[in-house]
Amino acid sequence: MGSIVIYFSAEAGTTRKVAQELAKKLDADIFEIKPEQPYTAADMKWTNPFARCNKEKLGKKDVPVEGRVENWDEYDTVYLGFPIWYYAAPNVIGTFCKGYDWNGKTLHIFATSGGSDIGKSAEKLAPYVKGAAIADAKRVTSASEII
Ligand SMILES: Cc1cc2nc3c(=O)[nH]c(=O)nc-3n(C[C@H](O)[C@H](O)[C@H](O)COP(=O)(O)O)c2cc1C
Repeated sequence: MGSIVIYFSAEAGTTRKVAQELAKKLDADIFEIKPEQPYTAADMKWTNPFARCNKEKLGKKDVPVEGRVENWDEYDTVYLGFPIWYYAAPNVIGTFCKGYDWNGKTLHIFATSGGSDIGKSAEKLAPYVKGAAIADAKRVTSASEII
């Protein structure tokens, strides 16, 4: 059984950098969650009430993901990383998580942010990762804060 680092990163590659550093440290596989429709800068302009990010958040919309993790059953430990959006995980994380069987997985959650702490991000994700044991959930700036 092995570990996999799974991440979503949209704005500046901040989460990607941490995820890549972590995968290297762990010598683990890595998977990037890519929305079928990539986010443009305008999509993420949360100061615009009509921006995609706000419509998705308010509409509790699913955000379809491109591709799948191969050999899911071979991993017993999942490191899941994302940028904090509105004090929680972006909707695309929920959509991703719904597509997999989490029974028996150990889940480590990490997030980057402009300053907000991880808050209730893990609790809010819990319904989408039923069966997983959430080992920890933290806001980080580097992989050394995770392992
Ligand atoms: C739609 C949206 C909502 C955000 N909400 C928050 C927030 O609630 N708190 C916070 O500290 N940062 C917030 N941010 C900033 C990101 O969490 C931060 O820039 C993150 O490190 C970006 O990671 P990335 O480059 O991997 O996408 C938000 C950014 C976007 C685009």
